[in-house]
Amino acid sequence: MEFKSNIIIEPFRIKSVEPIKKLSKEDRALALRKAHFNLFKLSSDDVLIDLLTDSGTSAMSALQWGEIQKGDESYAGSSSFAVFEQTIRDLTGYKHIIPTHQGRAAEKILFQTLSKRYSGITPGKIPNNSHFDTTRANLEVAGFEGIDLPCEEFFNFESDFSFKGNMNLEKLEVLLKKFGADQIPIGMLTMTNNSCGGQPVSYKNIEETSRLFKKYKIPFYLDACRFAENVAFIRKHELPDLTPTEIAKKIFRLADGCTFSAKKDALANIGGFLATNDDDLVEDFTSLLILTEGFPTYGGLAGRDLLAIAQGLREILDEDYLEYRLAVTRYIGKKLDALKIPYLRPAGGHAIYLNAKRICDHLKWSEYPGQVLALSLYLEGGIRGCEIGSVMFGKKVDGSESAHPSELVRLAIPRRVYTQSHMDYCCEVIAYVAEHRAKLSAARIVKQPKQLRHFACEFTWPMN
Ligand SMILES: Cc1ncc(COP(=O)(O)O)c(C=O)c1O
Repeated sequence: MEFKSNIIIEPFRIKSVEPIKKLSKEDRALALRKAHFNLFKLSSDDVLIDLLTDSGTSAMSALQWGEIQKGDESYAGSSSFAVFEQTIRDLTGYKHIIPTHQGRAAEKILFQTLSKRYSGITPGKIPNNSHFDTTRANLEVAGFEGIDLPCEEFFNFESDFSFKGNMNLEKLEVLLKKFGADQIPIGMLTMTNNSCGGQPVSYKNIEETSRLFKKYKIPFYLDACRFAENVAFIRKHELPDLTPTEIAKKIFRLADGCTFSAKKDALANIGGFLATNDDDLVEDFTSLLILTEGFPTYGGLAGRDLLAIAQGLREILDEDYLEYRLAVTRYIGKKLDALKIPYLRPAGGHAIYLNAKRICDHLKWSEYPGQVLALSLYLEGGIRGCEIGSVMFGKKVDGSESAHPSELVRLAIPRRVYTQSHMDYCCEVIAYVAEHRAKLSAARIVKQPKQLRHFACEFTWPMN
């Protein structure tokens, strides 16, 4: 006899807790009015379940907090950096490890340095399955053009294809043939693909992408923020006989370097790094690091952060943790299936993306169905999600507006923070809002900044 459970439990127990406060609907309405119906402007104290982002919101482990106590805060030669460097080198195999305060600082250092080297090219092109918004902004500021090449399968939100984060290899080869290494300073691949539903890239696709960049002699960098979640999908669907660490090591060795935000798959609240095998670039990377982040043995971080990140990287590839992590979004997905509520299928690694275009199909794109759905989830249940649609992407540089192809609400799940009953509650709220969707009215923008309007714009919205 051997008992086998089908339930994937949270592989941790809770030692330290933080209260969350349930406001009345009237108080939430008041908070929304005060925030001008922009969820980024809410006080987090007024949010019951915060699914705005999975970035920097992880619960650290007792061992990570222990490392925080041990941090060596020496300006130069910190022993904390030695641990950080060795942990990342063992995992990735990369020669040079450059600590930064978060992922976007690694992106800035990479692209600014490349732009000096490629100053004759206007503008050099940088392909990716899809660039995250800070990656795109940083490469554009450095004078490059970001090219998104997501695979065709991604655009069918109803299909259950397991690797919708794949690079479109046919389109990539056309681009590489046309522009070559002279006009393409580096190629990139984001795992999992946050701009495309948190969908993973297959090992085969990473291998093929790497082969193509090698063929055209173009350095290949990974955006590795959520590498461990991508590894978990690869293990589930493609390489079940390898351990997560073995898969991660194989992946990193297919590339020449990576950018990394430790706020995701290092289970830390801050931090990042740039890693490379390129001996020529590293001197310029380091000069810019010292100018904008700090000395190479701490970057933009405290010694204690370096240790917490190193410990997080040791924990993130734990098999039980990764099994639980994927089970969370899959669990919500199954509940939504039963309720017939459309979302971007299959469930992503770090988030569920509700399909607001279909849920609020009585609203035009210019009435911002994603924003309306996100506001309703907060008003009815105190849940904070994030619109990813025409509010975020509909305004062009010339000031004109057009429909974004998708209207989504991303519910990003912080790591190790919420329990299954929190998720059950979220599904109840989603079901209630979806049931009463006919009553939801348009949102209108009344004030907006020129750039990145979703963070600061103000709306009116009749709270029916
Ligand atoms: C795929 C991806 N790349 C880069 C970044 C930037 O990282 P950071 O927020 O640490 O600057 C993010 C942040 O969400 C991301 O999701």
